[in-house]
Order: sequence, then C-alpha cells, then structure tokens
Amino acid sequence: DVSPAVVTVTGAAGSIGYASLFRIAAGAMLGHDRPVRLRLLELPAAVTAAEGTAMELEDGAFPLLESIDIFDDARTAFDGAQFGLLIGARPRTKGMERAELLAANSAIFAEQGRIINDVAAQDIRVIVVGNPANTNAAVAAANAPDVPGERFTALTRLDHNRAIAQLARRTGTPVGRISRVTIWGNHSASQYPDIFHARVGDTPGAEIAADERWLVEDFIPTVATRGTAIIEARGASSAASAANATIDHVHDWVLGTAGDDWTSVAMPSTGAYGIREGLVSSVPARAAGGRWEIVEGLDINDFSRARIDASVAELEGELDAVAKLSRA
Ligand code: NAI
Repeated sequence: DVSPAVVTVTGAAGSIGYASLFRIAAGAMLGHDRPVRLRLLELPAAVTAAEGTAMELEDGAFPLLESIDIFDDARTAFDGAQFGLLIGARPRTKGMERAELLAANSAIFAEQGRIINDVAAQDIRVIVVGNPANTNAAVAAANAPDVPGERFTALTRLDHNRAIAQLARRTGTPVGRISRVTIWGNHSASQYPDIFHARVGDTPGAEIAADERWLVEDFIPTVATRGTAIIEARGASSAASAANATIDHVHDWVLGTAGDDWTSVAMPSTGAYGIREGLVSSVPARAAGGRWEIVEGLDINDFSRARIDASVAELEGELDAVAKLSRA
C-alpha cells in the first residue's frame, strides 16, 4: 500500500513525540515508500510548542511527509486517522494518589476511544504509550464498540527491546541473533520478561535461565526497573528508546514480524494463557497481513506462571479501580 497514511499523534510536543515524528516522516515506521500525513494533537498550552516541532519537520524536507496539521481538539485530530499513536497522558505529579492518576487518565482515554469510534478511519490501529498504558488501552477499547478490540494495543515493545539488550550484554550475543523473548503482563515493575522460549544465538534461553540467581536477582529486575534507572541517570524519562519501540511496534504490525520470531504486544485478551478477557496484557505475538496474532500453546512452567499471574492481577486491580471510579 503506497497511499498516504493518516497518522494522528497525541502529546506530539512532548519528549516521545519529538523523538518519534522525525523518524515517522523519514519512513521508518510505515516503510520508505509510504507517504504520511501527520495530525498532531496537543493540549492548548502546548500547541505553540507543537508548531515549533512542525516547523522543524518542514525543515527536514522529508519527501514522504505530505502534510502536518496541529489540533487541540481530539475530534478533529482523529478525523480519518488510520494510525493513532496515543502518547499524551496526564503525568503523575507530586502528591498525586495512584487512584487520581487512574481516574484522570481513564477520563482522557475513554473520550479518545469514543472519538476514535466515531471519526477515525475503518482500519484505525491504535498504540497507547501514555501511562498506565495497558489500562488506558483497555479503557479506550471499551469505549470504541465498533472498532475490533485487537486494534487497540499498548506499548511493551520497549520492555521487550530492553530484555533483548540485557540478554545480548550478558551473553555477548549480537541482538540480531536473539529471538522469541516475551514480556508478559503490565508495562510496570510487575512485568515478567520470559526467556524460557528464547533463542540466544545457538543457545536455548532455558539454558541461560537455568542460572536462577542471575535470572531473579539481575535480569528480571534490571529489565523491569530500567525506566527508573534511566530517569536517575538522565534526569528525564526514556524518550528516544520509547519512540524507537513505538515505531518498531507499528512497523511490525503493518509490515509483519520477521521469520518465525515473535515480539511482545499488549493487546486485549481473548482468554489465552488464562488471562481474563478485556484486560490488555502483554503477550507473545506475531504479525502477518496487518494483524497481530497471539502465539498460543507455549509451555508455561511454574516459575513463569506465578510471575505472569502476579502482573495480570495488577492489571485486574487497575481495571477494577477504573470501573469503580466510573460508577462513583
Ligand atoms: P511529556 O510530558 O514530555 O509529553 C507529554 C505530552 O502530552 C505533553 O506535551 C502534554 O501537553 C501532552 N498531553 C497530555 N495530555 C494530553 C491529552 N489529553 N491530549 C493530547 N496531548 C496531551 O511526556 P513523554 O516523556 O513524551 O511521555 C509520554 C507518556 O509516555 C507518559 O505517560 C509516559 O509515562 C509514557 N511512557 C510510556 C512508556 C511505555 O513503554 N509504555 C515508556 C516511556 C514513557
């Protein structure tokens, strides 16, 4: 498909937006032959900043970039959107309770879900990056009854890429020779990076996982708390790596995952692996023909089961809290 793609990016003037837009315009997300029309959504206070980003995008003279439009109204911004990169969210501020954060974001994502349902293109595909990403995606999906649930996904590709990077570093294997890693559950510290099915060069991941002390004390916490380590070192949260993962996610969704490898995608559960329907949990998935398909039938050992269940329980707690708030 070389018809221009309509891409709506929310939070476009923020750090991840800034790091994403130039690569989208350069063709890294949808292919180097697919023109793009960018529609940027920002809060009114950040529209001027978005205009500055748009000036820089113009100055990139990207041959694939057909247009850039800036909006502070979601209904106009999502009009005809084929891709929705939902990056903007209410950040957690000092003294804010977790419940307040959930409430603020569920209101934003419920509204964006309804709007996407009403005005986006038939083939809309959504990736939620703004946190709490999984639950925000679940809320948006629940408010878009006419859009197939599988078109609402949340980003755990950054966690997936982080897990590959840590495995590469540990074993001295080039990242390109590492496959079949899985992130399960929530994009939070409870996530479970699973290497039991991985291939690390010619070594089965299970063999590497046999060093349980390293697995439990080093690998899993390093991947799960990498975001915090970045904040501590950089004084700002992951931006370019999050943008890169967002682009990887959409790229693979549209153009397919490579060979027999899979990746990690948070998408609405169909009940596979005992995950409650409606939760947006990270699972192993392959893409073909523009659709994610969950990789079913993997053997889940007790070690993995306990960790998957714990992260899924956290997701249940988040979604139940949101449901309670919306009834209150
Ligand atoms: P940022 O604060 O630099 O930018 C966010 C932008 O979103 C701001 O410009 C703000 O004006 C805008 N915004 C807020 N609410 C909006 C709304 N309702 N509609 C449109 N725009 C809105 O934040 P950054 O660093 O770009 O991060 C964005 C989000 O991504 C955060 O929620 C962050 O926690 C999350 N994140 C998720 C990751 C993941 O792996 N899932 C990784 C890293 C960050």
